Amino acid sequence: MKRIVILISGRGSNMLSILDANLPVEVAAVISNRRDAAGLASAHARGIKTLAVEHRDYASREAFDAALAEKIDELSPDYVILAGFMRILGNDFVRRYAGRLLNIHPSLLPAFPGMATHRRALEEGVKIHGCTVHFVTEKLDHGAIVIQAAVPVLETDTEETLATRVLKQEHRIYPEAIRWLAAGRLKVEGNRVCIGIPGTPKGTLISPEMSR
Ligand code: GRF
Repeated sequence: MKRIVILISGRGSNMLSILDANLPVEVAAVISNRRDAAGLASAHARGIKTLAVEHRDYASREAFDAALAEKIDELSPDYVILAGFMRILGNDFVRRYAGRLLNIHPSLLPAFPGMATHRRALEEGVKIHGCTVHFVTEKLDHGAIVIQAAVPVLETDTEETLATRVLKQEHRIYPEAIRWLAAGRLKVEGNRVCIGIPGTPKGTLISPEMSR
């Protein structure tokens, strides 16, 4: 069975969606860059090994990345899963886990890389927002896309209501992506991921929905 390590920074709801999906993977540990991350306690309560590598204990980004990589390598995972991990990882770290490092981002990449995606989506007046699971590369929020879920933006939406609906989709697509990853179904060709799902696309999603 493939082994994964999950990196979190806070609440850990994406991490929990992965743990609760009964995936055919062994979760070697959940690691946080913050000792007080609520998600660490939730993972511990489910019997998962937890570790904190507190970024504030390190003088530089490189020193933190190296300490984190050392902990990860002790666990010998096949894949490293960033699930609400809010530290930017340096190029050496990203290269070390190239092709084995997945992230979830709360926007339809390449739109809105970086922070405050829901606020920016509302400010820009987009009609469709969503979330993306992608391989991590040296360019922030820019690697090959595995799966996306689209969410219509409603006129009544606030940052919070939009975030809540997007998060619900994050909890659907991340376990799915990891299922494919663990089954060896993801082939990256350039910037495209081939998943090998037979069948044709189901149509077009347009928001607001049109009458015909
Ligand atoms: C999620 O929206 C994730 O995509 C983003 O930060 C949030 C973390 O939520 N990077 P959680 O810790 O998984 O609950």
